[in-house]
Amino acid sequence: LLHQNTYLVNGELKPWKGETAEVYSTISSTSDYKQTLLGTIPQLGEKEAKEALDSATLAYDNGKGLWPTMKVGDRIACMETFVDQMKTKREEVVKLLMWEIGKNLPDSEKEFDRTVDYIYDTIEAYKQIDRDSAKFEKNSGVHAHIRRGPLGVVLCLGPYNYPLNETFTLLIPALIMGNPVIFKPAKLGVLLISPLLDAFQSSFPEGVVNIVYGRGRVLATPIMQSGKIDVLALIGNSNSANALQSQHPKGNRLRMVLGLEAKNPAIVLPDADLDLAVEECIAGTLSFNGQRCTALKVLYVHESIIEEFNRRFAYKVDQLKFGNPWEEGAKLTPLPEVDKPGYIQELIDDAKAKGAKVLNKKGGETTENFIFPAVLYPVSKDMRVFKEEQFGPVIPIVSFSDIEEPLDDMAESNYGQQVSLFGKNVHTLSPLIDTLVNLVCRVNLNSSCQRGPDVYPFTGRKDSAYGTLSVHDALRSFSIRTFVAAKDN
Ligand code: G3H
Repeated sequence: LLHQNTYLVNGELKPWKGETAEVYSTISSTSDYKQTLLGTIPQLGEKEAKEALDSATLAYDNGKGLWPTMKVGDRIACMETFVDQMKTKREEVVKLLMWEIGKNLPDSEKEFDRTVDYIYDTIEAYKQIDRDSAKFEKNSGVHAHIRRGPLGVVLCLGPYNYPLNETFTLLIPALIMGNPVIFKPAKLGVLLISPLLDAFQSSFPEGVVNIVYGRGRVLATPIMQSGKIDVLALIGNSNSANALQSQHPKGNRLRMVLGLEAKNPAIVLPDADLDLAVEECIAGTLSFNGQRCTALKVLYVHESIIEEFNRRFAYKVDQLKFGNPWEEGAKLTPLPEVDKPGYIQELIDDAKAKGAKVLNKKGGETTENFIFPAVLYPVSKDMRVFKEEQFGPVIPIVSFSDIEEPLDDMAESNYGQQVSLFGKNVHTLSPLIDTLVNLVCRVNLNSSCQRGPDVYPFTGRKDSAYGTLSVHDALRSFSIRTFVAAKDN
């Protein structure tokens, strides 16, 4: 059991003796998949939230603080110290990723390693920005020395599906650009921050990183209502983002970096390589049980190939192995949200009541904390699974005869993150790509949707995102261009 009984404020790991909350896992090493108690975390109150806010505000000191004014090389040194210490915690963090959120071993290891790489890439990108800012520009007799400066105090909130990686892709660029941070770990995937607390505490000056535990509403509300937050950095859902934004007393004058929902479609054209399309759609829909914002969440398949696609796809889904995250070859794992199997069942029932069938034999089979992925066809617009971001193991398939059908749906959608396009004919693909890039932000040719490599822009249109998070773009998102100008004289 891991009892987290401190929180990080003012550079100090403060002991907490008040209310705590139990953290459960939906994993158990026995085959009944009953819940397991993993540990406890503090349930801090408004007083501690304000303490964290004061600590970060002081570290920033309206731009005059130690952190925003620190030399580039010194900030880099802090980050290097942190990542060196973080690397020694790999085994513990990977184990907690498996236990807390049920991510399988290869993906948990990948999440950790990818995050370490992200930190190194961010350091390099930051050096590049610094080198660029060393260049002088001259226009109409005015010399300019361009720099990038911090924005202020950042409230950072991450999601449960990538509690390390996604959160750190906000936290790390915010910090390196000179912004102090208040970070509340996700509700699920919270204990895995514990092994890193010492590293945060010893690598950064006091007040720069503040880590608080507890209910989002209790902690985030007073922080937002104070009006002292300069940037809201959140990867999660738009309801939370909207609620937090509305608490900011200065209204819309709040900078935000948001990664939100998506309903990424795959479009399978008549000339697609079917084996490849099936394989990529399996990975796209069901990696980490479909709990990815980048997951494929609806498959549009041309009517001329739908029968064959459905047959192969449904068969392959049934071959996927379910098991505990550390089991060799386990692609499907228990779902960390206890209410998720019930929600997925509701979507299946609703679709069936409106005329869809479950195509795969195991679709909808349940065990404790798990529901086997259901492949639903034919799915129509009146079904909940067509509209809602399922974020779990259920796959709606829609047949189309005219390419305008999926394009119209995408244009009408509230989301616009990515699309996967499967086909071979360049003359068909090329104009289609020109349209699709205006509907989403990334078109994946003959491959499933994904965020990586992390140097590429990660963003979306409409309700899917606000701001951009590639390694380089994130540095820009958490800073502002400033410059020193001097006249020729
Ligand atoms: O949940 C959204 C993640 O950013 C997805 O990342 O495509 O690498 O799984 P991924």
